[in-house]
Amino acid sequence: MGYDLKMRIWRGDQEGGELGDYTVEVSEGEVVLDAIHRVQATQAGDLAVRWNCKAGKCGSCSAEINGRPRLLCMTRLSDFDAGETITVTPMRTFPVIRDLVTDVSFNYEKARQLPGAELGPRDDDGKRRMMQIDVERGQEFRKCIECFLCQDTCHVVRDHDHNKPAFAGPRFFLRYAELDMHPLDTHDRRVLAQGAAGLGLCNITKCCTEVCPEGIKITDNAIIPMKERVVDRKYDPLVWLGNKIGLRPRDYEGRMEVGEGPVRRP
Ligand code: SF4
Ligand code: SF4
Ligand code: FES
Repeated sequence: MGYDLKMRIWRGDQEGGELGDYTVEVSEGEVVLDAIHRVQATQAGDLAVRWNCKAGKCGSCSAEINGRPRLLCMTRLSDFDAGETITVTPMRTFPVIRDLVTDVSFNYEKARQLPGAELGPRDDDGKRRMMQIDVERGQEFRKCIECFLCQDTCHVVRDHDHNKPAFAGPRFFLRYAELDMHPLDTHDRRVLAQGAAGLGLCNITKCCTEVCPEGIKITDNAIIPMKERVVDRKYDPLVWLGNKIGLRPRDYEGRMEVGEGPVRRP
């Protein structure tokens, strides 16, 4: 059964903008992206919106619906009352390019700062082995579709652009944790996570977990374990002694520069 949906959609660019009012016919079973496409097709041909898969897998249709970070293609119109006006705005944490499209290059810069996996030597028979439990632990983290909704919702950067250089954000804490838990990886990312990536700025409010469309328990399964790993290292008496006599990196307090590269596991 169809009905007329009232929408408010943010229109504008870097110079500024405003909410535009639209009324569009929608059908049962449709999602917010369907309604936006119909607005685009019938009333606003120049409305900019980014999308690719319409299946919750490419992570490109991220925006804010009634102020909440969500995927446009996975938000059903039936989540709202038929008479309710739905307001769609671009992600607030990233600079607007046009209308609902934002510049998410902040995230790619943070990804570049994160050292990739570097595996140790193979076993004598040429294979690499790890426990099944270690294989399974990383599966949850690999569900990430890089929609950056968690980055958008995180209060450390949402209204605080000045924190961006010092904070990688929950999506990348997830990646730090995934790699740090990999038993065959030889890098030790704990100093980098606490220093250049700003793990200490996270106060585990779990807002990132609440908006993740993949249901990844970002805070419980990645950020808190990563914080525990950093603390383990910080208060390890052997590490303390190594710091004192200059054998190990000294900086656990955020002073390590990005360009200094990762620390290898002792
Ligand atoms: S738990 Fe940490 S990373 Fe997640 S939204 Fe809160 S402050 Fe940001
Ligand atoms: S962790 Fe979840 S919210 Fe964050 S980028 Fe990945 S899929 Fe999106
Ligand atoms: S269009 Fe791909 S996640 Fe929405």
